[in-house]
Amino acid sequence: MIVLRIRGQFSREERVVIEYVGRLKGEVYRERVKSLLVEYDKEFVPPLSVRAGGDVLRYCESLLKDRFILAVKGDDVVGFLSFRHGYASELLERYSPSNYVTMVIVERGYRRRGIATAMYSELLHNLPKKLRLPYVTVRTWSTNYASVKLLEKLGFRRVAVVEDERGRGIHTLYYGIELRRSHREKPKTRVESLKMRRVQ
Ligand SMILES: CC(C)(COP(=O)(O)OP(=O)(O)OC[C@H]1O[C@@H](n2cnc3c(N)ncnc32)[C@H](O)[C@@H]1OP(=O)(O)O)[C@@H](O)C(=O)NCCC(=O)NCCS
Repeated sequence: MIVLRIRGQFSREERVVIEYVGRLKGEVYRERVKSLLVEYDKEFVPPLSVRAGGDVLRYCESLLKDRFILAVKGDDVVGFLSFRHGYASELLERYSPSNYVTMVIVERGYRRRGIATAMYSELLHNLPKKLRLPYVTVRTWSTNYASVKLLEKLGFRRVAVVEDERGRGIHTLYYGIELRRSHREKPKTRVESLKMRRVQ
């Protein structure tokens, strides 16, 4: 769990809790994720609704099978990151199997406060042990500057490009990061830390 203290409306300090929650069971969180997808549908290229035959809720049903990291302020979800565990594909061959990010959205009023960075940090360093893998992967598109900047700042490498896949001049970009053992498992004691160094 990561607790972010950010400046909210009227410069009031707000507390945002970022936490891996697994598959979404509670109706409240599921509805909130749906509403974020509906609200920001058109920010995606192509829009999420277009990817699901015109119905963003259909897209949502399939996304809800994934695992989630939520950014929660009070009772409200202000952002989420979803991912698939054990993902493998030809394009990401060298980075397979991975934890593959299927969606990241931060509510507009909360952007540029480090929420996406913190959600990625939870994914890269704080997952339950049984879900940790050496690779994390994700795809985005070439005109999504915010996403490209974010991934490169986090240390992701561009692994593959599918040119013009999303329209003329709009390429699909695949990114991956390899996590060192020391990144995946933070040593708790000096003895564990020494053992870990030896097996690297
Ligand atoms: C992309 C997105 C998730 C980023 O969320 P965020 O919480 O604002 O990101 P962070 O605050 O952690 O930003 C970290 C860094 O990413 C880069 N970044 C983020 N947004 C940016 C923007 N609009 N323009 C340029 N760089 C940006 C910056 O380097 C930033 O660091 P800085 O603020 O210190 O300069 C958010 O803009 C969003 O929800 N966009 C719409 C949905 C989307 O495109 N999702 C990704 C699909 S692959």
